[in-house]
Amino acid sequence: MTGWQQVLRVTTLALSTALGSIALAQSVAQPVPSGHTLTGELTKPQASGPAVVLVAGATGRTGRLLLEQLRKDPRYALRLMARDVEAARRNVSKDYLWVAGDVTRPETLAPALSGVSLVLVAIGGTERSGPNSPEFVDFGGVKNLTDAARTAGVRQLVLESSMGVGSGGGLLGMMLNLLSGDALKWKAKGEAHLRASGVPYTIVRPGGLTDDPGGQTGLVLQQGDEGSGRIARADVAAVMIATLDNPDALDRTFEVIEDDKAPREAWRTGFSALKPDPR
Ligand SMILES: NC(=O)c1ccc[n+]([C@@H]2O[C@H](COP(=O)([O-])OP(=O)(O)OC[C@H]3O[C@@H](n4cnc5c(N)ncnc54)[C@H](OP(=O)(O)O)[C@@H]3O)[C@@H](O)[C@H]2O)c1
Repeated sequence: MTGWQQVLRVTTLALSTALGSIALAQSVAQPVPSGHTLTGELTKPQASGPAVVLVAGATGRTGRLLLEQLRKDPRYALRLMARDVEAARRNVSKDYLWVAGDVTRPETLAPALSGVSLVLVAIGGTERSGPNSPEFVDFGGVKNLTDAARTAGVRQLVLESSMGVGSGGGLLGMMLNLLSGDALKWKAKGEAHLRASGVPYTIVRPGGLTDDPGGQTGLVLQQGDEGSGRIARADVAAVMIATLDNPDALDRTFEVIEDDKAPREAWRTGFSALKPDPR
């Protein structure tokens, strides 16, 4: 195998992880704790009680870890969005409130966002070209979700984006764009729409995602989109959750990767060093 073929093979593997079919993880079926069951009839944010959190991409690999980490947190009531609710109930868990929503179809988003205070977005295009490619999910879908969140009066939208979106990602980024239907390019446009929308937001750009257990290493939060690294999806989920209602994370874009030299939980106090995005 030539060096170029090796680069292609590695890139294709990375890409299939990024945009390929969703591996079916263990079911997270658990009784929903008291205060977490929603009626689906909420029409405005609750004045008291747990904040309603919508998870978009809840059937995905990061999304499922968000659910695992959030389900026991009494501060939040979960509402999970899926394109196919029956499949989500079957494959993930029937013990949550699922709402139907497809980010490429804006008319499905207003009902899904009704009464929601916080939104966690862990979606990604599922094909290189066509109606569910990065152009229509990572850009168009993020745009539709952002617009629906603004209408619904959401107080924070947290977007899982990707390292390399700010810088182009160098040679690997060029290869990824080539093989993925310009995922980094469309993610950049999605990010830009969110930043300009007026919706309070946090953009988390993880390095290469792994399915390793979370909490095994330190993490570094950084800005400027330089360098490269990897991170467990479980740690990305923990970081996304830690940004919720965190004023130090509001209107910030940052990268996050593993850092063997950092103390394991030190990143939790690292948000205050992040600069707000220029207006
Ligand atoms: N792989 C990497 O190394 C890497 C690195 C940095 C960032 N990222 C990015 O991180 C994000 C999460 O990645 P992941 O691997 O954890 O996710 P994933 O397992 O690929 O899951 C993607 C999720 O997006 C949902 N989705 C796709 N199209 C949708 C649509 N039209 N409407 C609503 N939901 C839709 C899927 O739902 P369905 O069940 O309906 O398909 C699924 O829940 C992605 O944006 C990815 O590009 C990846």
